[in-house]
Amino acid sequence: METNKVPAVIIFAPVAGDAATLRALVEVEQVHVVLCRDKERFYALLNDSTLTAAVTEEGLAQCSLVELSGCLRRQPTWSDIPMLLLADAENRNIDTGRFARLSEIGNFTVLTRPATRLAIVMALRSALRTRRLQFDLRDQLHEMTDHAQQLELLVGERTARLEQEVLGRRRVEHALIEARRLESLGRLTGGIAHDFNNILQVIAGSETLLRMQLGSVVDPRLSRSLDGIRRATTHGATLTQQLLAYARRQPLASVVIDMQVHMDASLELLQDMLPPSVQVTLEIAPHIWPVFADPTQLDAALLNIASNARDAMDDVGAIAMYSTNWTLPDQMMPEAAHLVGEFVGILLTDIGPGMSEDTAGQAFEPFFTTKAVGKGTGLGLSQVYGFAIQSDGIAFIRRESAGLTVGILLPRSREEIGLVELNTTEERSDGLAGLRILYVEDNTDVAESTVAILQSLGAIVHLVYNADSARESDLSAIDLVFSDVMMPGQMDGVEFARWLAARHPNLAVVLTSGFMLSPERLHGLDVQFVRKPFVIQTINEAILQAIRKNAHGKRQAAT
Ligand SMILES: Nc1ncnc2c1ncn2[C@@H]1O[C@H](COP(=O)(O)OP(=O)(O)O)[C@@H](O)[C@H]1O
Ligand SMILES: [Mg+2]
Repeated sequence: METNKVPAVIIFAPVAGDAATLRALVEVEQVHVVLCRDKERFYALLNDSTLTAAVTEEGLAQCSLVELSGCLRRQPTWSDIPMLLLADAENRNIDTGRFARLSEIGNFTVLTRPATRLAIVMALRSALRTRRLQFDLRDQLHEMTDHAQQLELLVGERTARLEQEVLGRRRVEHALIEARRLESLGRLTGGIAHDFNNILQVIAGSETLLRMQLGSVVDPRLSRSLDGIRRATTHGATLTQQLLAYARRQPLASVVIDMQVHMDASLELLQDMLPPSVQVTLEIAPHIWPVFADPTQLDAALLNIASNARDAMDDVGAIAMYSTNWTLPDQMMPEAAHLVGEFVGILLTDIGPGMSEDTAGQAFEPFFTTKAVGKGTGLGLSQVYGFAIQSDGIAFIRRESAGLTVGILLPRSREEIGLVELNTTEERSDGLAGLRILYVEDNTDVAESTVAILQSLGAIVHLVYNADSARESDLSAIDLVFSDVMMPGQMDGVEFARWLAARHPNLAVVLTSGFMLSPERLHGLDVQFVRKPFVIQTINEAILQAIRKNAHGKRQAAT
């Protein structure tokens, strides 16, 4: 098979003299020429690189029209090889019918012999011209095909990118819907916990008072009952704390945390809590950023996650803790597709059975548990979630091929890691004897029991029911203000504390609440904070601390 790729004019002229003459004429046109000796070679040379074919009548006589037509039909759409046929004018061997059929099978031009040089050359040039136009067409077609392929590729790429974007957006939407659902659950939970806290405060306060009134008369049965009340209120208080954590209404004591130092300590904490058959490892990426969060709550979250892992692995297995920096969004952190900025991730992965998709969808809800009654409260992961969100981060569950990862992302702190404030050592053990306290509380039951407690500590208590009346009191005759936060009236406790800081900077202030509308408001205020419900020791300690700090501040101002 001839696979001639050089464009050439093909000459099929079995009579030797004809071939030479034709060749000489063609070569003047400065194109390549190929002579064929037989019809097989002639057929083979009729291909895409044929410029034109010149065939004499003797040549054509050797061909079968069927075969020739077959060769010419194989041409691509752009091609129609110009064919020159040199025939004798008065040939009796070829009837006109045969010539007429030639135009049906190909692009034939018939020149009668003897033809003049000029006629042949002109016919040849015309054929070459036609063929070159066909080649141009071919090139353009190729170019178009190339473009079409490139376009297809581009469309493919764009489609893939679009699909990726749609997927990403769907993920973000899903995260937002989920966040909204948990948010409304949080509001409900928070509301209940707030009221419940006040009730607990009254019960706890009354129990304390009862003990005081009974004094040293200890009837063991009575004492047992009182112990029961105390246990129940403590348990209740823990519960409301967990609920408030989920509702993101707990006052956070956020500080700048050095993650390297903190996580090392947390590792020990987890190791102490877990049985030796559960191995915990910690990996911290180099140059880990500090975060701004409440370290106690962070540890509570890590303990909650780790104890879940322990339960899932039936007390035998491994937990890998991993902490690293994240600049979001990042493809490797699809759960935070909706977050932008710098975060520190703390991921705990266990090798337990993992969660079903359904469980993962509900695990952050308060009271959702798959554990037996008495084993699970369903408040572990809800604390994790509430803490993370309240700290402007997120918590997420990642179902691994084996095991489960629970992760927390906390925002990077821009502040420097601060020095831990050292407590002054001056201890006052003489209670609150003679201390003049302005006590602000709107709930009369809570007020009644708390007043009694403060009085039992030796304080002189002046009670008002809201901040508005507190402002009208004679504040010069007061040593310390003890105020609830959530109160009706123009000001709540935090605003009142700000007002006091501006007008009566020498007054020590203690705030109390079980519930904060926006806990971050406490940030930057120089006040003591007591979580409701409080016990007598806590309130005593907080008041002393406030007075101590205040005196310290005043001494500093004097120097
Ligand atoms: N590491 C884990 N592996 C498998 N399931 C888990 C894991 N952590 C949590 N869960 C599931 O999530 C549920 C909720 O957890 P949590 O809020 O801590 O409540 P509790 O531990 O009291 O059940 C668990 O009951 C359990 O079904
Ligand atoms: Mg749990």
